[in-house]
Amino acid sequence: MTHAVLKTVNLVKVYSGGAVPVHAVRGVDLVVEPGEFIAVMGPSGSGKSTLVHMLGGLDARTSGEIWVDGKRADTLSESAWALLRRKKIGFVFQFFNLVANMTVTDNVELPALLGGASPRVARERREHLLGALNLTDRADASPAQLSGGEQQRVALARALANEPSVLLADEPTGNLDSRNTRDVLRLLSKVHKDGQTIIMVTHDARVAGLADRVICLLDGEIVDDGRIARRRTGTAGAVIDLR
Ligand SMILES: Nc1ncnc2c1ncn2[C@@H]1O[C@H](COP(=O)(O)OP(=O)(O)O)[C@@H](O)[C@H]1O
Ligand SMILES: [Mg+2]
Repeated sequence: MTHAVLKTVNLVKVYSGGAVPVHAVRGVDLVVEPGEFIAVMGPSGSGKSTLVHMLGGLDARTSGEIWVDGKRADTLSESAWALLRRKKIGFVFQFFNLVANMTVTDNVELPALLGGASPRVARERREHLLGALNLTDRADASPAQLSGGEQQRVALARALANEPSVLLADEPTGNLDSRNTRDVLRLLSKVHKDGQTIIMVTHDARVAGLADRVICLLDGEIVDDGRIARRRTGTAGAVIDLR
């Protein structure tokens, strides 16, 4: 029997630091099945980042439940969340968040090693991912020597290096030109086809078009949740069509 990769029950986030509390996420119920590629859309300020950060334990929930791979996660301590992330969660953000004083190689291998892979396995995954993202010849560079697009591709390789149960991405193509967007989406499509579960925040309907399911947030609530019917011939074609 399979269980949900991720599940939330009445998940709520209220930011109460300011003069007025901000109800960023208001009771989200979400079940993510293994292998699903979900796009999260909605206007700026609708709670997309807050939701995705909570799913990865980067932001503490106010109330409600989060389950990762069938285990309750919202009650974990910060250090227990950190361990869970190493094993099960990959993150890609809009701003690339690479470790500045490490090479591309080390940036990608580190999460695999932290996740428990042997040095040999970490190296193999790194070689595979950098190859798939056309980055092999940049392996010895430091992030500062890379273009934005290259940095984001490295960030994606890093997020996948621990073979996470779920890849969480918050507008990963938000700062990329169309060619780099295409490279990133091509890899996302490929890993999705290989079974990777993905939750991706995006503003771009063409990007969302690659997903199996689009969730729309408005004022912290899911107002639409639709599976996309598509002919099963063509994620690769869909990527090539992107301009
Ligand atoms: N750290 C924070 N402190 C207070 N309010 C915040 C914080 N982060 C986000 N918010 C507010 O929560 C709401 C949802 O924000 P966010 O999740 O970033 O939306 P989105 O990613 O959809 O643009 C917004 O009103 C935003 O101003
Ligand atoms: Mg956001």
